[in-house]
Amino acid sequence: MKFYEMSVEERLKFLRDKYSLTDEEIDAIRNGGLDIDKANHMVENAIGMISFPLGIATNFFINGKEYLIPMSIEEPSVIAAASKAAKLTRRLGGFKSNSDEPYMIGQIQIINLKDPLDAAKRVLDTKDAILDIANSKSQTLKRLNAGAKDLSYKIIDSMLIVELLIDVRDAMGANIINTMCEAVAPLIEEVTGGKVLLRILSNYSTSRIARAEAKISKDELGEEVIDNIINAYRFAILDKYRAVTHNKGIMNGIIAVANALMQDSRAIEAAAHAYACRNGYSSLTDWSKDEDGNLIGKIELPLAVGTIGGAINIHPVVKASLKILNVNSSKELAAVMASVGLAQNLAALLALSTTGIQKGHMKMHARNIAMLAGARGSLIDLVSKMIYEENNITLARAKEILANLK
Ligand code: MEV
Repeated sequence: MKFYEMSVEERLKFLRDKYSLTDEEIDAIRNGGLDIDKANHMVENAIGMISFPLGIATNFFINGKEYLIPMSIEEPSVIAAASKAAKLTRRLGGFKSNSDEPYMIGQIQIINLKDPLDAAKRVLDTKDAILDIANSKSQTLKRLNAGAKDLSYKIIDSMLIVELLIDVRDAMGANIINTMCEAVAPLIEEVTGGKVLLRILSNYSTSRIARAEAKISKDELGEEVIDNIINAYRFAILDKYRAVTHNKGIMNGIIAVANALMQDSRAIEAAAHAYACRNGYSSLTDWSKDEDGNLIGKIELPLAVGTIGGAINIHPVVKASLKILNVNSSKELAAVMASVGLAQNLAALLALSTTGIQKGHMKMHARNIAMLAGARGSLIDLVSKMIYEENNITLARAKEILANLK
């Protein structure tokens, strides 16, 4: 049986067996996972929790590995669309994806300098000592031969900005970067004679780029549809009003995975849109044809994500989601998320340039209503088709049809 044809309990059983999930993990997925005590430790003035649906995108074959991808989002059709697009890529090998080593930048701003260039030279002369202080803040990164690796500077106006380049390995990194920046500030003040103001990571994580590409066979889509997709893409390249919506669709997928794994989605969004803007705001993806007329899609964006630290260690559903996703590093997670972004864009361009998105959306809705009314197996298709064609997608009508069929 296909994953989407299973009942919720059947899906949970399938995942439990496949990924050896514990009863506690299954319970956490079923009920959202947080209790008020945990919530109270996560944010201030806690009063409760708010739930989002958690679903699984299927059909993803990335760098020769099968993935089931947890996605959490309030918007219908996103998970189905990603799964559908991922299926289209399989005939020609799925996604090829990679990501940079997990280097992040920490910025230290120094003001009140008489001679910023001279101050910069003195900082460079003290580089080893500054890096030593930074690295004293994480024994874990030290053990992994990671941590603060280099230091550079820029002068903006009369300010000196010192930048630490930090290998954060499998963490998103914000905490350790900020800790390191704060730790080195006194020595930087001492050697420059200036005043250190801000000590904070940069969320513009351009040293942490993830890329994915996929080829979709001409036989799968046909020449006309491929040309339509490329023309839809050209619209985004040439018009910012379209580009923002186009990129929003990409972020539907990326942020849904980020939500399921409690990543810092604001950091991901901010970096993605700044990157989309590096040569004037444009598409994060690129679509073209190869010499045989197959469609080729590519995506490239910064992705600062982690498989350890932050809410990941606290939230039981995140732990279960990570088991299901089965990634071994922050690099692999970024590569998977880039593939999901590309799939999401393909699904949107395909739907928009053919039937429009509303039809698929309503069909999906009809399926959900049919299942909610109790339809299983082949009855799902039958009942959802009937309520869709009658233009009466209601629980009452779906139940009535099911009762009559019994
Ligand atoms: C809807 O959430 C996303 C789309 O608008 C994306 C797009 O237009 O490319 C369908």
